[in-house]
Amino acid sequence: MDIILRAATERVNILPGSPTPVWAYGGEVVSGPGDTLSTFEESYLGPVIRVKKGQRIRVRFINEIDEESIVHWHGLHVPPEMDGHPRFAVPGGREYVYEFEVKDRAGTYWYHPHPHRRTGPQVYAGLAGLFIVSDEEEAALNLPSGRFDIPIVIQDRTFDRNNRLLYTGGFMMDAMTGFLGNRVLVNGKADQKISVDRGAYRLRVLNGSNARIYKLSWGDDLPLTVIGTDGGLVEKPIAKPYVMLGPGERVDLWADFSNYESGSEISLKSLYFPDSSSGFAGGMMRGRGMRGMHRREVSPSGGGEYLPSGAEFHLMTFVVGNTRMPRLPLPERLSQIDRFQVEEAENTRNPRRFVFSFDHMQPTINGKIFEMNEVAPNEVVSIDTTELWEFVNRSGGMMRAMQMPHPVHVHGTQFQVVERKVAPEYSGDWRQIREGFIDEGNKDTVLLMPGMEMKVLLRFSDYTGLYLYHCHNLEHEDLGMMRNYRVEKNV
Ligand code: C2O
Ligand code: CU
Ligand code: CU
Repeated sequence: MDIILRAATERVNILPGSPTPVWAYGGEVVSGPGDTLSTFEESYLGPVIRVKKGQRIRVRFINEIDEESIVHWHGLHVPPEMDGHPRFAVPGGREYVYEFEVKDRAGTYWYHPHPHRRTGPQVYAGLAGLFIVSDEEEAALNLPSGRFDIPIVIQDRTFDRNNRLLYTGGFMMDAMTGFLGNRVLVNGKADQKISVDRGAYRLRVLNGSNARIYKLSWGDDLPLTVIGTDGGLVEKPIAKPYVMLGPGERVDLWADFSNYESGSEISLKSLYFPDSSSGFAGGMMRGRGMRGMHRREVSPSGGGEYLPSGAEFHLMTFVVGNTRMPRLPLPERLSQIDRFQVEEAENTRNPRRFVFSFDHMQPTINGKIFEMNEVAPNEVVSIDTTELWEFVNRSGGMMRAMQMPHPVHVHGTQFQVVERKVAPEYSGDWRQIREGFIDEGNKDTVLLMPGMEMKVLLRFSDYTGLYLYHCHNLEHEDLGMMRNYRVEKNV
């Protein structure tokens, strides 16, 4: 398979009135099956790229925006030179050619820019797309496919009076909380409505937002049926009252609309949850002060209301049609996951510890910020090993409002969650979200909530070289909450 992916300026109709100038990926199939790329109508989102496990692909990325960029394949296990590290960024007018074999399990992955300090604004301007891998194990399950397999990419944006995208990521409040838009787009559309038949669907949900966390739930409060996470299918379907989805995370849902009458409208929403960083929790004076400050920053350009982190809102609507589809049963077993064992880790007794914190407004990992080629001694791992890592969310001596959630992402490999612990002062907040985490599957991004310590198991295989790990709150990432790690032959 051979494609061209071009980042360029475009104008799309998102809101009534003037079109919105965006940056968008456009795709072209040079050789390969016709269904390799599919596009959303009137959306800035890049084409959905569909590949099979084991396939070799070639992507010629042509950068036609007026700043440097590079494409990262989020969640994929590819050689370091193919991973879109910022050191490979190319200026406008230049290109970068990717060639790799897709070794990953079937699943919902995605791609987006990764230049140093400019990932947030570039994703915000529209550069992002889904990368869907299928394989034989999955095909044998006969899951809903074709038009019954629907991408749901959730992103928040703020528009000015002329329908231009307003990015406030540079302002102080947004530097801390990350950019929070005041309206939610699904697949690049405001007030998204998707017509469905009375049958079973697979919904591939990506939180493609810069910083916003969603507490996904059905409008009628029925449980969500989770069938997959970042790294593909889970072993068996999991019923959840709601699902917490941080920036960069994906969840595959099974949605059966066959019991609804035609004409029903079912909404997908995000529920309230306490987020101490937004100043929303408890409506404290300090909180209101912070919101006020933010609003003043936004309003001169007509941004309107501020939608704080943790607020409840409607995401999109499914409209049920007349057509009744033959019943498709939800498989009891979905896949087999190669489970890593704590005992097989090289460092079971002595996990590598990574502390994510804000030190005087500067987001850091173990007190350090990103340096293009730097690797600290504790950031070197051996190939063909399994390791236990510990992610800790702590802000030394800072006020509680400075504890932000950090969606921690590791490049180059999928990992598994071993445990999450939350400090007692956060147990009240934790109780309102704890059922929303899916720690049963393969993950590449995990929400490290305030006061949380979590352990994960990772395996390093096939490729040596430099990879990234970072906070996927894109404003935190751009401010330097990102580091390299290096896989070596034998340390
Ligand atoms: Cu989705 Cu390093 O990023
Ligand atoms: Cu990534
Ligand atoms: Cu962060």
